[in-house]
Amino acid sequence: METAHENGVFLVGAFVDLPSFIWLWRIAAWAMGFTVFTYGLQVVTALSLRLVRGQRPRWVPWVRSLHIALGLVLIALVLLLVTVGIIGTLGHYGSLGHSSHLVAGLGVVTLVLLSGLSATQIHRTSWGRPLHLGLNGILLIALAWVSWTGWQVVQKYLPS
Ligand code: HEM
Ligand code: HEM
Repeated sequence: METAHENGVFLVGAFVDLPSFIWLWRIAAWAMGFTVFTYGLQVVTALSLRLVRGQRPRWVPWVRSLHIALGLVLIALVLLLVTVGIIGTLGHYGSLGHSSHLVAGLGVVTLVLLSGLSATQIHRTSWGRPLHLGLNGILLIALAWVSWTGWQVVQKYLPS
């Protein structure tokens, strides 16, 4: 008789029974590319806003909306990555925690969510802006860490 656990893994297996585990890192690599690109655009839009703070050029509302929209895209991409990572790993091993990539991944998710939350405080509190900045600085390091550890686990699946 199948246990609930086996059933769960079977369900997940419907996605994972592809020729190999390679599909996971393909999606991860693409989504990660978009994530880094979006992070770069966030720096550009944020710096534009910062340079003209106090003045009100006509393009400010537009760039501000772009910064917020791209921020939501960034959050969505990271949530996609952690979902794919967890589903893929559960499907393959039946458990999580096979390397420091798990901690790196969960760290990135936490930071990007906190960054989005801190953004809502920028105009309401004096600490919102420095917090938003600090979190995004740490996020940059965390993104490098998750890429490095992700790249390392990929090596296990590449034909030698
Ligand atoms: C996670 C999603 C993000 C959301 C929802 C978000 C949202 C916001 C919002 C609403 C503001 C205030 C804009 C204004 O009215 O002046 C802001 C400011 C800012 N954001 Fe973000 N942001 C996000 C990610 C990022 C990232 C990844 C960076 C940089 C790497 C960044 C850097 C900044 C900076 C430097 C400011 C301050 C601009 C200034 O001093 O005028 N943000 N953000
Ligand atoms: C924001 C970016 C990312 C997040 C949040 C994320 C998240 C995760 C998580 C939580 C796991 C489960 C790990 C475990 O339980 O041991 C995982 C697994 C995995 N991820 Fe990522 N990941 C990201 C980026 C990447 C990148 C860039 C790659 C490589 C191109 C990658 C490749 C993999 C692979 C191959 C696994 C299977 C784990 C293993 O074999 O040990 N991930 N990911």
